[in-house]
Amino acid sequence: MSVTDRVYNFSAGPAVLPLPVLEKAREELLCLPGAGASVMEISHRSKMFEPIIEGAETNVRTLLNVPNNYHVLFLQGGALLQFAMIPINLLNGKSANYVVTGSWSKKAFSEANLVGNAQSVWDGKDLSYKRKPGANEFQFEPNAAYAYICSNETIEGVQYQEYPSTENIPLVCDSSSDFFCKPIDVSKFGLIYACAQKNIGPAGVTLVIIRNDLLERSDGKIPSLLNYKKIAEAKSMLNTPPCFAIYMVKLVTEWLLHDIGGLDKMYAINKEKAALLYDAIDRSNGFYKGHADKEYRSIMNVPFRLPSEELDKKFQSEADKAGLTTLGGHRSVGGLRASIYNAMPKEGVAKLCGFMDDFARKNKS
Ligand SMILES: Cc1ncc(COP(=O)(O)O)c(C=O)c1O
Repeated sequence: MSVTDRVYNFSAGPAVLPLPVLEKAREELLCLPGAGASVMEISHRSKMFEPIIEGAETNVRTLLNVPNNYHVLFLQGGALLQFAMIPINLLNGKSANYVVTGSWSKKAFSEANLVGNAQSVWDGKDLSYKRKPGANEFQFEPNAAYAYICSNETIEGVQYQEYPSTENIPLVCDSSSDFFCKPIDVSKFGLIYACAQKNIGPAGVTLVIIRNDLLERSDGKIPSLLNYKKIAEAKSMLNTPPCFAIYMVKLVTEWLLHDIGGLDKMYAINKEKAALLYDAIDRSNGFYKGHADKEYRSIMNVPFRLPSEELDKKFQSEADKAGLTTLGGHRSVGGLRASIYNAMPKEGVAKLCGFMDDFARKNKS
């Protein structure tokens, strides 16, 4: 197998990784320079691993301009564990407010209610989760423990362009599918997190950026591995961290910094790719129908449908043969979905658009 066997992979996650990152990992797979062993075979407490985890953290801080009063944590358990850890650590006997804009914030809301008390202040279910709410459509309770949003609903393809104002209530954000897709102002958030397997690296590590004062909410009785404060004090090494995944985060963040040139540049590229794909949908005269309302369209995940389920299937199977893979929609909603994360090259999106034009021409009744 060689690089020429690689397809354009539109998977929602685990997703495509930048080719230079995979090449570098391959180069160092047998032997990390100076270590005499691979990164998977050395102690996480060794002098060899220290610069890897510290380098990954420095790169995250540089890319997002993370203020000094925030901790950057590398955790395990995926984004789903954060659905529980957030209320376990931050509720402190109070109630939290959730904005339910799609499948993932809905799941986070129901998990929070397993742990304590959470209210939904807006739920887009009756609108088929096609958009997020406007600022005047909901209100946070002034004494809420935190306000929760999902910045990009991976399944419905709905993304926040601007984040809600929460006054003094800490804003908590699941950014799993749009982390690093554009610059953000971290100081607007109390906590922002993302699983890695879309835009940050491989599955196995979850990034959490948390404001220092919120660590004080972590009750000493919370089991250690679920306790943000204890994890922060141990610099994410309370136990063995996912060393290889963290090493990959370091490589991906190096790629973003040095090959791409930072998040402003990444954002410009992402907007260009998304515009290409949405244009292909919009110029099809209704043959392709996007799920999200135009104003809220995600630049990372693009769910769409064809006129029938039969055509959806035909599209997917022919696209697959053309080297455009993993275009099936999430099992809960069907249709198709193209995830065009940071590592999807513009050529891949252009090829998909050409295929879409062709397919529509041949299959329009
Ligand atoms: C927005 C969002 N949140 C949470 C998750 C769950 O992530 P994990 O599988 O790492 O628990 C996903 C996964 O697709 C997601 O897209």
